[in-house]
Amino acid sequence: MKILLLGSGGREHALAWKISKSLLCSQLYIAPGNAGTAMCGQNIAIADNDIASIKQFILEKNIDMLVVGPEQALVDGIYDAVKTDTGTQHVLVIGPSKAGAQLEGSKDYAKEFMQEYHIPTAAYRTFTADEYEQAVAFLHTMQAPYVLKADGLAAGKGVIITDNIHQAETELHAMFMENKFGTSGHKVVIEQYLKGIELSVFVLTDGNSYLILPSAKDYKRIGEGDTGLNTGGMGSVSPVPFADEEFMQKVEERIIKPTIQGLQHRDIIYHGFLFIGLMNVNGDPYVIEYNVRMGDPETESVMPRINNDLVELFLHTAHGSLHQDTINISNQCVASIMLVSGGYPEKYEKGKIITRCEEVVDSQIFHAGTRRNEQGELLTAGGRVMTITTMADTLEKALAISNKNAETVQFDKKYYRKDIGLDVCK
Ligand code: AMP
Ligand code: GLY
Repeated sequence: MKILLLGSGGREHALAWKISKSLLCSQLYIAPGNAGTAMCGQNIAIADNDIASIKQFILEKNIDMLVVGPEQALVDGIYDAVKTDTGTQHVLVIGPSKAGAQLEGSKDYAKEFMQEYHIPTAAYRTFTADEYEQAVAFLHTMQAPYVLKADGLAAGKGVIITDNIHQAETELHAMFMENKFGTSGHKVVIEQYLKGIELSVFVLTDGNSYLILPSAKDYKRIGEGDTGLNTGGMGSVSPVPFADEEFMQKVEERIIKPTIQGLQHRDIIYHGFLFIGLMNVNGDPYVIEYNVRMGDPETESVMPRINNDLVELFLHTAHGSLHQDTINISNQCVASIMLVSGGYPEKYEKGKIITRCEEVVDSQIFHAGTRRNEQGELLTAGGRVMTITTMADTLEKALAISNKNAETVQFDKKYYRKDIGLDVCK
């Protein structure tokens, strides 16, 4: 099978690495990819949200399967665009329809969906820009910390959490009146703050049957001890020790099953990954958000633990026959530490030469923001540069090896958190 994978992050390198191990994959293309994906297949210079060019490439190369890594193309309707065109409708697409992608594309849609299907989540209300006064009045009925969410995609930056009511009002004003997140912020969800520990649960579904993939914990803040600015993710571990059988049973019964039933009830075509961001509140799971794709850097810790042939699972997902599969998860533990460019998530420099990757032993490097120059040298090309991913008998061992190798790899202004996973090892 000829497969086209969209995206260019560490998630896509981990997916490409796993896809390229499948005997069912004869050729893998990645658009646009990075220096890591280029080791698993052929990178193509097409943006991952350029639907017209992607369709043209599918026709040119006779692609059999399209795997969509990031959310933008899904929210823009790439599934429908491929499936409603007689030239490309035979192509298997891993990713939900545009209707399904609303679970990530609109926070208000996701909240309303959860409310209808009685899925536990924070209490909320949604306001539009012409309801600024009502929104402020509602804020005053809430307790700190205040949680504001721009309705649409905002490159992961659309959530504001603050203890200060005046700042909450200022942020609301900025979203409604000053276009802080463009049209994404013209509708805002204000919700109750949930106190607990977060984890990421991943499901692969054909819209009827589903497989629960390994869970992971993501470390979002830039600083050690979960301090400082939010980032795309500074590291991840899998499994998550507190997500034991009892907890996961609650997740499946209270969240996964009603979510799938909701999709069925709404006649939503969904052949792909569903990422459920959860808060464990005193042993009970609450949904913080849905994403309609895998997480990054969770994928880097999840893929190594899946023993199944991923392409075979994708085939069954696209054909609606996932009921015949069982997931085979390794008992080993995986830790991924993200190396980032100094300054990230604010201003940082690119184009730094990366060295000593060849000295990394016992870990896998998943590239994120990397590229090669004409001389073949590896360069940084983004804020998040690569994960150092290690699989071992225990999380402690995996972390120790990842930390050692994170120290080995060199580039100017390299930064990484040395405390990834320590909280769950206690
Ligand atoms: P999101 O962009 O939806 O992933 O939100 C970013 C982060 O904000 C989440 O990973 C949580 O850490 C935090 N967050 C979002 N909603 C809530 C909430 N209702 N209560 C507490 N923390 C939240
Ligand atoms: N790691 C969180 C995300 O991918 O959204």
